[in-house]
Parts: sequence; C-alpha cells; structure tokens
Amino acid sequence: MASRYAEVYARWQADPEAFWEEAARAVEWMAPPARIFHADAGVHGRWFPDATLNACFNLLDRHVRDGRGQQVAIIHDSPLQGFSKCLTYAEVLHEVETLAAVFVAHGVTKGDRVLLYMPMVPEALIGMYACARIGAIHSVVFGGFAAKELATRIDDAAPKMVLAASCGLEPNRVIAYKPLLDAAIALATHKPDAVLVLQRLQLEASLVEGRDLDWAHEVAAAKREGRVAGCVEMQATDPLYILYTSGTTGVPKGVVRDTGGYLVALAWSMRGLYDIAPGEVFWTASDVGWVVGHSYIVYAPLLIGATTLVYEGKPIGTPDAGAFWRVCAEHKVVSLFTAPTALRAIKKDDPGGVHFEKHNTSPLRALFLAGERADANTVDWARDTYGLPIIDHWWQTETGWAIAGNPVGLGMLPIKPGSPTVPMPGFALEALDDAGNPVPPGTMGSLVIKLPMPPGCLPTLWKNDARMRDSYLTAFPGSYNTSDSGAIDADGYVFILGRTDDIINCAGHRLSTGGMEEVLAGHPDVAECAVIGMKDAIKGEAPCGFLVLKAGVMRDHGAIEAEAVSMIRDAIGPVASFKLAIAVDRLPKTRSGKILRGTMKKIADHDAYAMPATIEDPATLDTIAAALRGRGL
Ligand code: COA
Ligand code: AMP
Repeated sequence: MASRYAEVYARWQADPEAFWEEAARAVEWMAPPARIFHADAGVHGRWFPDATLNACFNLLDRHVRDGRGQQVAIIHDSPLQGFSKCLTYAEVLHEVETLAAVFVAHGVTKGDRVLLYMPMVPEALIGMYACARIGAIHSVVFGGFAAKELATRIDDAAPKMVLAASCGLEPNRVIAYKPLLDAAIALATHKPDAVLVLQRLQLEASLVEGRDLDWAHEVAAAKREGRVAGCVEMQATDPLYILYTSGTTGVPKGVVRDTGGYLVALAWSMRGLYDIAPGEVFWTASDVGWVVGHSYIVYAPLLIGATTLVYEGKPIGTPDAGAFWRVCAEHKVVSLFTAPTALRAIKKDDPGGVHFEKHNTSPLRALFLAGERADANTVDWARDTYGLPIIDHWWQTETGWAIAGNPVGLGMLPIKPGSPTVPMPGFALEALDDAGNPVPPGTMGSLVIKLPMPPGCLPTLWKNDARMRDSYLTAFPGSYNTSDSGAIDADGYVFILGRTDDIINCAGHRLSTGGMEEVLAGHPDVAECAVIGMKDAIKGEAPCGFLVLKAGVMRDHGAIEAEAVSMIRDAIGPVASFKLAIAVDRLPKTRSGKILRGTMKKIADHDAYAMPATIEDPATLDTIAAALRGRGL
C-alpha cells in the first residue's frame, strides 16, 4: 500500500487548525472546542483553550458505557512475582472511582498535586487515572531514583498526597521504597498531608502514625460504604500531569502536560503512527516513571479502547532472553514498543533468536523503538532475526509523543538505516546553523521545531515560565530547541546525532552529567570533576566521572573513587548506572577554563578527534587517555 503520509502531512501544513479540529473528534468533550489554537495564550500558545473534558472519562467511563466493560483493559504480567492477571474496563473503572473517592475523603481536590513512587503494578495506573478523574495533577517519580531526587521533586510539585508501594522488585533484590520515601519527606521542605501505602506481599512497610494510610484498608472501606467519585470537568488546558526530566543542572525540569491537546495527539498517534485498533493489545515495555510509559502504557491504549500491558520484569534474566516473546505470545500482543537497550541485551544473550522461535508471536506486526539512538547493527539484526518491521521513532519527555517516526497507520515508508524516518504532522522540523539559518539537506545542524508545537507538547515547566523560555525558546527565536543535533535529508528523512547539551542517555534513561558533577563536587577530597557519557555496548552510553583531588590529599585514590560511586547511587539512585570514577591529575580545559568534555568523550570512545584550537595544555588529553588505559578502556 502506498503511504498516505505525504498527503496527510501536506494537509496539516495547509491548515493546521482544520487538521487538529478533525483529530479532536476522537476525544469526547464536555464542551467541544470552539477555538482550536490561541497563539497569544500561555508561553507559546494553547490548544483548545475553551474546551472542557475529563481524561479518565475518555479512558474508562465512555468505553464501559459503549459496551467494552468486559474487555480486558490492563494485563499485569510479572515474571518477578510469577503470575499474570487481567483487569477489565469495568473492574478498572470501579477501582478508579473508588480510589478517587479515597482521595476526596482526604481532601485532595482539583489542581492539587499527587506524587506517585510506584513500581510496575496496575495500582500505579489506577492511581494516575483516579487523579485525572478528580482533576488532581499527578507526578510520577521513577523507582530507581534515590531519596534526594525524590525530595527535590516533592519540593517542586508540593503534593498534597503521595502514593507509594512498600517495595519494588528487581531480579536479585526487593527494594524497600518506603524508607526511601520517608527519607525524602524528611529531606524535603514541603510535607505532604498523607501517604497512601500499597502494602506488597514481598515486604510490608511500617506506617507513620497520623500521616500514612493503608491503601487496601482505605479502598475496602470506601467500597463497603459505596463511596465513588465522579469525573470533574476540566479545561483542556488544565495540567494532567507533571513529569520531571533531567536538565543540564541537578535541578530537574517539571514538564507540564495539558489535558485536551495531549489526548488529541495520543489518539492521532495510535492510528496514524502505531496503527492500533480498539480491542488490540499494545505493549510498551517501559516504566510508568518515564514519558514513554505515561503516553503509551497509561494513557493512549485505553484512550482508544485497546488493552495495555504492565510488565514487571526485564528483557533478559526474568528468566531468560525469551521473556518478551513469551509475553507477546501469551497475551497476543500486536505491537511492542521498547528501548534499543532492551534489544541489545536480548541480542547478546540470544543472538540467533532461538527464544523467539519457541513462541507463537504471530499477532505481532511491528516493533517500535525510542528513547535513545537505535544503532543500525541492532536494528538490522532484529529485522533479520524476527522478520518484523523495526521502527525507530524520536521524541522527548517535552513533546509527549513522536516528533519523527514511520507512520505505519498511514502506510509505512521505506526505512533508511539510522533514521527515525519523517516528522509527524504537527511538527515543522528544521536543522539550523548556530546563526539560526537552515542548513542544506543532509547537513548537520540543531534540530528545532517551528512554533507552534502541536497538541501534546509541553505548554510550560511547572511554575517556571521563565525556565521554559530560557531552556527551549530563546536560542532560536520562533522555534523550540530540541537540544538534539541532526540532519534532514532531501527526502525529508530525519537523522539524530545526539544531544547538544550535557545530557547523556543510558539505557534509554536521560541523565544530567551536570547533576552528577554537582554531587561529586560535594566529596571533601574532590577539587573539580567532569562526568562524560562513554559508549556502552548494551546501555548505549554509561557515565564516567573524572576526579581531580585537592592538593595534599594522601588517601588511597581507589577508596575515594569508590566513595564517589556510592555518593551518586545515594544521591541520584541506581538508575544513574554510575560505576566508574577515575582520579586524574588534571582535566583538559580551554584557555578560558571550560572543561573539554566533548574531546574527553571522543578519547574514551576511541573516536577520532581534532585537537581543540583553544586547549590550554594538549598534554592533559594524554592524561585522560592514560587514565582510561589504566582501567583497560
Ligand atoms: N526501581 C529501583 N531500581 C531500579 C529500577 C526501579 N524501578 N529500575 C532499574 N533499577 C536499578 C537496576 O536494578 C540497576 O541497579 P544495579 O546498578 O544495582 O544493577 C540500575 O537501576 C540500572 O538500571 P537499568 O539501567 O535500567 O539497567 P537494568 O540492569 O535494570 O536493565 C537492561 C538493563 C540491560 C535489562 C536494559 O536492557 C533495559 O531494559 N533497561 C531498561 C530500558 C527502558 O525501559 N528504558 C525506558 C526508556 S523508554
Ligand atoms: P527523554 O526525554 O528521556 O525521552 O529523552 C529524550 C532524548 O532521548 C532525546 O532528546 C534524544 O537525545 C534521545 N532520543 C529519544 N529517542 C531517540 C531516537 N529514536 N533516536 C535518537 N535519540 C533519541
């Protein structure tokens, strides 16, 4: 089938408002949008400024009303617990309206923030839907973050209530979440009124008198008393959630997502990009703590009446490299969305695809990849081994859905190796030089999105319009700066090179090297430091910290390096995957004192590099190379 992409993209270009007005019909509104886009509202315009709706109604109530009550809405597959279970739309709705009543009983109302620190269990989704139902703004913090990171987010979002599980499960250990949360609340200036604790069988948490509530008891009481909460009418522009993501400093950015535009964009993407029909099973193997999880585990599948899958396991080791294919076969998954890291890990353990052959994955039509660069080796290997289209797509926490992808629902375009294909309707993408002029096709530049950004993209950062402007809108006036560099070729295909800022991507997780440096600088023996992302065969990139010790420090360097590693684990969390700190005599710098992290990275990656013209002392580069060689790198 010839792709309709060119025609659809041209239709959007010709009349963006008409395009999104039509797309908005996939959503059920309380007050339908009379005005589609208001350019002068907010920081950079607002979508559907006069419309009202409720997100939870669109995900649950309307499908139950329309006869999907007995269809499975959520599959929970947990190899870490050894079971899977299914919840129907009717069951999820009942859990959600009841939990929402518990929130209301504890004083949570429209506009209040609710923070979630939860593993991959259905209750995480139920908690998020319950927030949406009553207009509370949820903010989910990934379980791999440590207490200090959690505290920063608690202070920024100022939640009235926190939802937490007693523990999370990793293959070799049970992670006690509650002590981390208690430590975070102790560190934070803002104190939530209540903490609703989901006690899991693997580890019971102790509850703080007067603050902590037992999830199961609260819900059981509400059920006994028949208490439920209805859907609150929200402005399309009201925040649905805040999701924190790494910035270039240790202070994370609170990406705000609005309600109406987000649902419209997600609904369009499920048809146009992913080609998923109501009733089908769409599995996103990510975590509810990331944007990919928010959009394509929590919201989009139920929005269109499909089934979502909550997977509490890993691509390998739970129990083997066939885990993904076992899940696909068992639950008749039609499309799997994961990070390239997961495929690289599977490829390492099962290069011949023996595990894949063992399972009947015939309903599976495509494998989508995002979150980090999909290297051509892995993509080619997966295509040949699995005989499936491997579809790379590029997006960010800020955009909420794909900036560029291969629109399977409009008819797939030919795949070019190394390219996430073409911009989605709504995204006017350009590659610019430093002066802000478009570069010729195929030439590297800064990738920017000409304003307005489409529905679904962040209207602002939480309580920080100024940081929104400074971070994204000032470098290239009239455009949103993605902070990714890349090229657009003569056919309109996009190629992503990497970040232009100090953010690295480790196992599809976005990490701030600046944030890690702030932590390392706090070590009493460290005079200065630099963190870079080194190539990693499985995780894409992994952080490596170089430490210059204070003059006169006589302690064993190995001990200081080990302390540095545990400082990052304690302050940021295991998610940082920070395993390598190396003490060096000096760091390479420019004459004006700027650390040459880019050149250090090239040395670490064994890539060719040109001697920076402004380097203060070229010999410092040899110091770095020698230090890495000393570690066998
Ligand atoms: N709660 C607590 N700790 C967590 C966690 C969670 N939800 N998720 C991960 N961690 C821990 C891990 O146990 C690991 O700890 P360790 O240093 O003690 O081994 C650390 O955080 C790093 O996690 P991660 O980088 O995800 O590696 P991993 O060892 O868990 O798994 C692979 C790595 C190889 C299995 C990888 O292929 C993978 O699938 N990673 C996740 C990719 C992903 O879903 N990205 C989301 C973006 S779309
Ligand atoms: P996050 O906000 O955590 O989703 O991370 C967004 C960043 O991940 C982007 O700015 C890119 O640098 C990187 N990224 C995401 N998807 C891709 C992709 N398909 N190809 C290359 N880089 C990607």
